[in-house]
Amino acid sequence: MWNRAKFIFAIVTIGLCLSANPSLAQQAASQVSKAEHAHSKAQDPWWKHAVIYEIYPRSFQDSNGDGVGDINGITSRLDYLRDLGIDAIWISPMYPSPLVDFGYDISDYTAIDPLYGTLADFDRMVREAKKRNIRVIMDFVPNHTSDQHPWFAESRSSRTVPKRDWYIWRDGKGPGQPPNNWQSWFGHSAWKFDPTTNQYYYHHFYTEQPDLNWRNPQVRKAMYDAMRFWLDRGVAGFRIDAVSRLFEDPDLHDDPILPGKNAYGDPNIAHKYTDNLPEVHEVLREMRKVVNEYPGNPVLISEADEPNIAELTKMYGGKDDEVQLPMDFQIADVNKRSAPEFRRLLNEIDKNAAGGQPHYFFSNHDQVRQWDRYGDGVHNDQIAKLMAALLLTTRATPLMYYGEEIGMRTTDPVRKEDVQDPIGKIGWPEEKGRDGERTPMQWDASKNAGFSAAQRPWLPVPPSSTEYNVKAESKDPNSILSFYKRLLALRQSEPALRDGLYLPLIAEDPYVLAYLRKKPNNSDVILVVLNMSAEPRTVKFDLAAEGIGDSSAKPLIASPEMGHDSTLLSHFTIPEFGVFIGSVH
Ligand code: GLC
Repeated sequence: MWNRAKFIFAIVTIGLCLSANPSLAQQAASQVSKAEHAHSKAQDPWWKHAVIYEIYPRSFQDSNGDGVGDINGITSRLDYLRDLGIDAIWISPMYPSPLVDFGYDISDYTAIDPLYGTLADFDRMVREAKKRNIRVIMDFVPNHTSDQHPWFAESRSSRTVPKRDWYIWRDGKGPGQPPNNWQSWFGHSAWKFDPTTNQYYYHHFYTEQPDLNWRNPQVRKAMYDAMRFWLDRGVAGFRIDAVSRLFEDPDLHDDPILPGKNAYGDPNIAHKYTDNLPEVHEVLREMRKVVNEYPGNPVLISEADEPNIAELTKMYGGKDDEVQLPMDFQIADVNKRSAPEFRRLLNEIDKNAAGGQPHYFFSNHDQVRQWDRYGDGVHNDQIAKLMAALLLTTRATPLMYYGEEIGMRTTDPVRKEDVQDPIGKIGWPEEKGRDGERTPMQWDASKNAGFSAAQRPWLPVPPSSTEYNVKAESKDPNSILSFYKRLLALRQSEPALRDGLYLPLIAEDPYVLAYLRKKPNNSDVILVVLNMSAEPRTVKFDLAAEGIGDSSAKPLIASPEMGHDSTLLSHFTIPEFGVFIGSVH
């Protein structure tokens, strides 16, 4: 903790360093910066300053008591999202689907599954969201359809029908032998034999999710028209699912085998010939042209777990002509509280050669929740705040996952017979599937945590919901939810946090991640200090090289609380897993 004598020294030093009329000079600079800020806000596309929130619709709010969340449920919770400080929601798929992959197996791209409601419900949701300045982003799944899609029904019916070439059909190597060694991401061979025409079809994911043939121009046209259907209804863009998997090597080379086996018992392989083929970028450019046909700067967000900064940078396109927000899986999956690792990755993406906007997240419907992955089992709530501060104070468009703001944890099924997600059924017990991160939103301590009036919701409500829920946490100023709300409000009100530069500090420190966010003229400077270790740490900041002579920072948000007094930068002590966000003055 800071100490009183040093604080007095800091005040004296600040006094000596100030010009003849310091407060007026500072006020003027700050006013200039706030005006600039308002100007840049008006000029920038909305997604540069937005906080996006992913909703898994099955699990957010059930309005009709069938145990599954729905569109009207989401609409009923829009006030909550507005009050939280959310600018846009990305909703996982709600299209008609046999639900093998809970909506990522689509049988009609231009309709709503009755389970979630109707198109009229959808339109109402978009309208109501707009009234609250919340945009709606659709999930778009271009790589594959459901095997129940009429396109696939036609394609599989004969080798000579027009839609045969809409999917990837090949002969086997011999009786019972698939065309090559390619593996499904969800286990076992990626080829499925279809006796109707005695050929195999390719599926990167489940067998019920045949891959579309993106080399066929008619496929492209049909998919772009589907995007236009939703843009015409007022959506603000798309999160593009599994986009790096769109193309496969036409010569069917075998993928290289790696040592060991995966959770499904298959040999490990490198997906060299089925992932990240260069033609993906051609499609992304075409998709960008489609969204660019519409006013209001619709956004493309890509799901692609790019292995390094070079691949991630390519997603933006050479001329800002592909995806505006490629999700950064490297940051999401650091999976340890390592200040050096975060520092390295943040620096890399901040300087990306395309000049693209970073897009960070930690949790989603496929990932173990961050509370569990970054927690140490003892200080998890404090660490939840630490990770929230990292997400919401770096220079990026942040993406949250429903429930992270209340500290929801992953709650895996304990018995195989309770598993819903097919990958949990295939890979049990090593791979338990993704049910654990998809449990119902915890609104209050009533039955089913206020999620549903059903006897049994589609997934059980975790026991932690009695303590960790919106209602209880709203009343507690020290809760994770209250912390998120304060952070989100600060991001809005502080120009340096919204669109200031990112400047890493204390480059060698093994435990403390610290950076400045600042406007170019140094009129607004925010210091963020995050202690990623279980010990208090003392660090020294020298900002002279940045042209900042000031030597103390006044807390705007700190956890644990630090009071309101300024802290000296030459001897800055931060508690274990502590968060400090302060204005340098
Ligand atoms: C994406 C989705 C995941 C789905 C897969 C296949 O990775 O996020 O939930 O299972 O694509 O569509």
